[in-house]
Amino acid sequence: MKSLLVTGGAGFIGSCFVRRLLVSSPEKHNVINLDALTYAGNLENLKLAENNQRYIFIKGDICDRSLLEKIFSKYEIDGVINFAAESHVDRSIENPEEFIRTNIMGTQALLDAAKKYWKLNSSDKYCAQYRDGVKFIQVSTDEVYGELGPSGLFSESTPLSPNSPYSASKASADLLALAYHNTFGLPINVTRCSNNYGPYQFPEKLIPLMINNCLNDKPLPVYGNGLQVRDWLHVEDHCEAILAVLEKGNNGEIYNIGGNCERTNIEVVKAILKILKKPESLISYVKDRPGHDKRYAINNAKIKNNLGWAPKHTFETGIDETIDWYLKNEEWLNRVVNGKYTDYYERMYGEKNE
Ligand code: NAD
Ligand code: DAU
Repeated sequence: MKSLLVTGGAGFIGSCFVRRLLVSSPEKHNVINLDALTYAGNLENLKLAENNQRYIFIKGDICDRSLLEKIFSKYEIDGVINFAAESHVDRSIENPEEFIRTNIMGTQALLDAAKKYWKLNSSDKYCAQYRDGVKFIQVSTDEVYGELGPSGLFSESTPLSPNSPYSASKASADLLALAYHNTFGLPINVTRCSNNYGPYQFPEKLIPLMINNCLNDKPLPVYGNGLQVRDWLHVEDHCEAILAVLEKGNNGEIYNIGGNCERTNIEVVKAILKILKKPESLISYVKDRPGHDKRYAINNAKIKNNLGWAPKHTFETGIDETIDWYLKNEEWLNRVVNGKYTDYYERMYGEKNE
């Protein structure tokens, strides 16, 4: 039985990972979920975990070094999966500071705690040797590579060229994790995944925002010409890939994760309209995102060939099921879309319509 520290486990992807660990891998892991419960963290995503004997929730900040020390020693952590982050590009353009604090400083605090608690000899300051079986996974993003032209794919050796404060902060965190491996020998992996969709995604992101607006017959704000391309992956496939890396990943390596599923934004929006039987007249082209990356697409050959992972969901069935989930969970959606969300929406989209 391993004790895994999942950070950001109350968010969209982290909560899917926690549910997966508790429900589908019984008896394998104890799960300690550390989450600051920012606007994006929601314990409603984890109702299923609440009474599970192998699950503990701690409300706290990954930048809080003394809390991290207590958690590592009390729960004898063997693995860290670092999902905790400020994750929305538009918010990083509005106010980058929190992205630097959580995504960079927070990752470094976690790396320091792991390095301290996992090393075999406490007087060995550098080039430490670590307990067997420990692992730190830095959950990163394809956005660290910047944008692609009309052809080509991101491979693990594509140079980093992030364009937004969000992706720059994630690239910094990746480099720190890799540096802790190269300098101190810490057993880490970095995963770089493409755009996720699925249940429980906060409706600031493209797909749930469009679903929510459709359900309320509100205009669908498409940035610029809508021809930007994203490579979509169902969140459950992302979590399976992280599990494969946790179990079989080679220390110090980067694994790209993606669904080979490129769609333009306008294709995605039209697919949602079609499923919900709403008119295309709801589409509203608005001011583009500054520094908007035109295209992301992942070459996932390494994780497929070396770790035997492959996505199980197709976009067509995945988007259908996702919309169905939002329809069946309107209460979740309505609670999430509260006063603070309305303020955010007005700030973000009021401006774009001017
Ligand atoms: P999210 O915004 O839904 O969740 C982030 C979680 O982190 C929230 O629960 C929040 O409360 C928590 N958090 C934020 N700051 C914290 C702090 N200082 N201390 C502790 N907890 C904190 O994000 P997500 O979409 O689930 O993304 C999870 C991770 O996956 C992120 O690192 C993101 O960069 C990465 N990622 C996301 C996608 C995607 O499409 N959403 C794709 C690739 C990679
Ligand atoms: O690629 C992985 C990344 O995907 C993750 O690292 C990020 O955490 C995640 O937020 C996501 O970033 P994007 O910027 O690609 O996702 P977002 O849902 O914000 O936007 C997807 C595309 O849709 C992008 O081209 C911008 C466009 N868009 C988005 C919104 C919210 C619109 O046209 N209108 C909108 O209202």
